Amino acid sequence: MKRMLLTGAGGFLGWNICRLASREWEIYGTVFSHRMEIPGVKVFPADLRDSGALARLMDAIQPHAVIHAAAISDVNFCQEHPLESRRVNVDASATLARLCGEKDIPCLFTSSDLVFDGRKAPYGEDDPVSPLNVYGEQKVRSEEAMLKGCPRAIICRMPLMFGEAGPVARSFLQPMVEAMKNGRPLRLFTDELRTPLSADDAVRGLLLALARAEGILHLAGTERISRYDFGVLTREVFRFSMKDAPLIPCLQKDVDTPAPRPSDVSLKISKALRLGFNPTPLRDALIALRSLVSG
Ligand SMILES: NC(=O)c1ccc[n+]([C@@H]2O[C@H](COP(=O)([O-])OP(=O)(O)OC[C@H]3O[C@@H](n4cnc5c(N)ncnc54)[C@H](OP(=O)(O)O)[C@@H]3O)[C@@H](O)[C@H]2O)c1
Repeated sequence: MKRMLLTGAGGFLGWNICRLASREWEIYGTVFSHRMEIPGVKVFPADLRDSGALARLMDAIQPHAVIHAAAISDVNFCQEHPLESRRVNVDASATLARLCGEKDIPCLFTSSDLVFDGRKAPYGEDDPVSPLNVYGEQKVRSEEAMLKGCPRAIICRMPLMFGEAGPVARSFLQPMVEAMKNGRPLRLFTDELRTPLSADDAVRGLLLALARAEGILHLAGTERISRYDFGVLTREVFRFSMKDAPLIPCLQKDVDTPAPRPSDVSLKISKALRLGFNPTPLRDALIALRSLVSG
């Protein structure tokens, strides 16, 4: 089996990659502040800000490919701590890209739909980037560093994702369902649109990209939906009543957040579809998660 170095193995996406890819790949996963065991994966503690440690890890593992899924993914934290987050979100990516370039192996970087400002959706791979917040800006810098440092870099721009939770990391779906279960009213944006993707589809897309893509690739669902309508669909699929799980429509301008939020960063995925990517309809993806998420 080919060896993969996976950064952020204990994160939401990383854990799902471990869960679904360890039959095809021998995975060497890095963890940082959350030490854990992951079935079928060789786990290594590593701080990606330490470039020497990264180089030693690459030499020890000699991977055939790297998936770089570690990041400081809290958009508001990045806004308030731009220098601290930059060390992980940009500098570590640049180091990894250089190391992969030197070894002539593919480096797949998980970027984000937040590289766009949300004014001209849906976005294709060739549309100019225009981030509104620090996190989006860091993703753009990281993409540039990847493409510069690693001739075999693959940049997968990911949308809002939902799915099975790992031991420490979960998606926005879990707190949403928890609130519904407890009858806590949820305020959700009607004017924030995304093309959400299940973690299972995301992992399938990433593995496909690793096998067949080069350069930039958008991986997302086919449905463009507001946060509010996603909440309505979830409530229906998880069989909560309107009375027991109240949803309150609101607008982005009603909620103050440290990081500005783009309104519509829906992604076009025609390139991925041509490669064979086939995301599950949202309703079916949520139905598949019903027993896992509601417990
Ligand atoms: N989730 C989404 O909806 C979404 C959407 C678009 C793009 N993305 C991108 O997809 C990737 C994965 O996202 P995610 O949701 O899985 O994020 P996550 O759950 O926050 O996981 C991030 C991981 O990065 C690790 N990490 C942070 N600082 C580190 C450091 N200094 N050294 C080593 N590891 C470090 C964390 O390890 P510890 O926990 O051990 O500290 C954690 O496992 C990220 O690049 C994110 O920007 C995610």
